[in-house]
Amino acid sequence: MPCERDSTLSASAAYEHVFELTVMLVAQCTFGGHNMSEATLAPRPGVLWPLESHTEAKHRLYKRYLDAWWPILLQTPSIRRVTYVDAFAGPGEYEGGEDGSPTFVLDRLLNHISRDLMVLTRERVTLIFIEGKKSRYDHLCKLLTARFGPLNDLPVTVIVKHGRAEQDTLPLLQSTGAWGWPILAIFDSWGNGVPLNHLEAIARNRSSEAIVTFGPNWFSRRESEDPEKLDAVFGGREYWQPSDASALPAERRRVWLATYRDAMLRAGFKYSLPFQVVPATGLPLDLVFGTGHPSGVAEFKAAMWKVDTSDGTRYSDPRTSIAKQAAFTAGQPSLFDGDPNAPDAELLQFVADSLQTGPAPLSHVREFLLRETSRWQEKDAPPAVQYLINEGRIKRDPPAGRLTRTTMLRWVG
Ligand SMILES: C[S@@+](CC[C@H](N)C(=O)[O-])C[C@H]1O[C@@H](n2cnc3c(N)ncnc32)[C@H](O)[C@@H]1O
Repeated sequence: MPCERDSTLSASAAYEHVFELTVMLVAQCTFGGHNMSEATLAPRPGVLWPLESHTEAKHRLYKRYLDAWWPILLQTPSIRRVTYVDAFAGPGEYEGGEDGSPTFVLDRLLNHISRDLMVLTRERVTLIFIEGKKSRYDHLCKLLTARFGPLNDLPVTVIVKHGRAEQDTLPLLQSTGAWGWPILAIFDSWGNGVPLNHLEAIARNRSSEAIVTFGPNWFSRRESEDPEKLDAVFGGREYWQPSDASALPAERRRVWLATYRDAMLRAGFKYSLPFQVVPATGLPLDLVFGTGHPSGVAEFKAAMWKVDTSDGTRYSDPRTSIAKQAAFTAGQPSLFDGDPNAPDAELLQFVADSLQTGPAPLSHVREFLLRETSRWQEKDAPPAVQYLINEGRIKRDPPAGRLTRTTMLRWVG
C-alpha cells in the first residue's frame, strides 16, 4: 500500500485492513543478532512501498533538524532524560532499500559527530517507534536488530511497539517516565491524524516539540468521508469549516493548513510553523512544526535552510500565496518584481505585512518574521528593512544612524 498518497480505499476500510485486532503488548524487539540474512528480511507484499519524493524531501528536513536537536539537549548536563517518539513509524525502510525514519534517526544518533559529548545512556535517551500494521512492525523489529544488533544492548533505549498512535503514544510516554523532560514527537499521520489532546499534552510538557505531517488531500478526503476525524484533530467541530467549494484546490489546502496551525497554537505551542514540502516532481506534503521556544523555531528554520535543495525541492510557506494575493488585490502586482538586487520578494512582502497595523520598532518586524513566517529568521529583518528604507517604502525614526531594535518604522508604500 503506498504511503502518504491518495488511496482508493475508503478511510475505514483502509484502517480495518491496517490494524490487526490482537492484544497489543509493549515489546522491545529482541530478534537474533547482526547476521540476519537478506532472505529473513524479505518483506511480504504490502509491507514496503516506494519512497516518494515528498517523503524523501521530508526526511532531509528531519535529518538536519535531529542532527541539531540531539546535541542541543544531550550536551546540557542538567537534562537527565530525552525522548523521541515516531508514532507512525513505518517498516524502517522503503522498497528501494532507502532508510525509513526510525532507521536513519537511530543511525544518525549512534553515529553523530558529537556522540562522545552527548552522554548516551539507556536511562537518559529513549526512542519509541509505534507501528500499526503487524507485518510492518515485524519488519521494523527485524531490520533494526539486523542493522544495530540486539536492541537491549544499545547504549540508548529503543522501544518498538505494535500499536496505534492515538492509543499508545501517551501511555508509553507515561510508562517510560518521559514526562517532565524534553520530548520530540513525530506524527507522520498518514490516514489517521492525531487527536489534539496528544498535542496538548506534549505542548504542556517541558521543552517539548511536535511535527505533524499530512499526505496530499488528507483534509479534503476526511472532510467528506470522516468529519469526526477532523473534530478529533482540531479539538471540536467549532474549530473547522468545510472548504469553500468555489476555491482553487491549492487555496483550500492553504486554508486547512492555516486552520491546523491555529490548532497547534490552541494546543499550547507558542510557535507553529506550517510548511508545504514541495519536491521537484510529484505531490507535495504538508508539515506543521510546533514548539514552545524561539530557539526551537530558529533551529528548525536553520535546518530548513541547510537542506540541499539543488534538485528543486522547496519548503514553502503556505502564507506566501495568501500574502501575495492580498498584495495583488491591493493593486500592487509587481511590488518587488524586476530588481535583481532585491532581497527575496517573499521576505519583503512579509516585512510589509508586519507594518500594516501601524508604525512599530524593528524588534516587532524581527518577532513577526520569527513567529508568523515559516522560513524567515529574525536576522533577515534588518537587511530587508534597510532595502525598503532605501526604496522609500519605509520611513524610519530617527531618520539616520544605526538601525537598532528600537528604531521606529512606518510603512509608506
Ligand atoms: C507515513 S508512513 C510512515 C513513514 C515513516 N515515519 C517514515 O518517514 O519513514 C505511516 C505508517 O503508519 C502506520 N499507521 C497508520 N495508521 C497508524 C496508527 N493509527 N498508529 C500507528 N501506525 C499507523 C502505517 O502502517 C504506515 O506504516
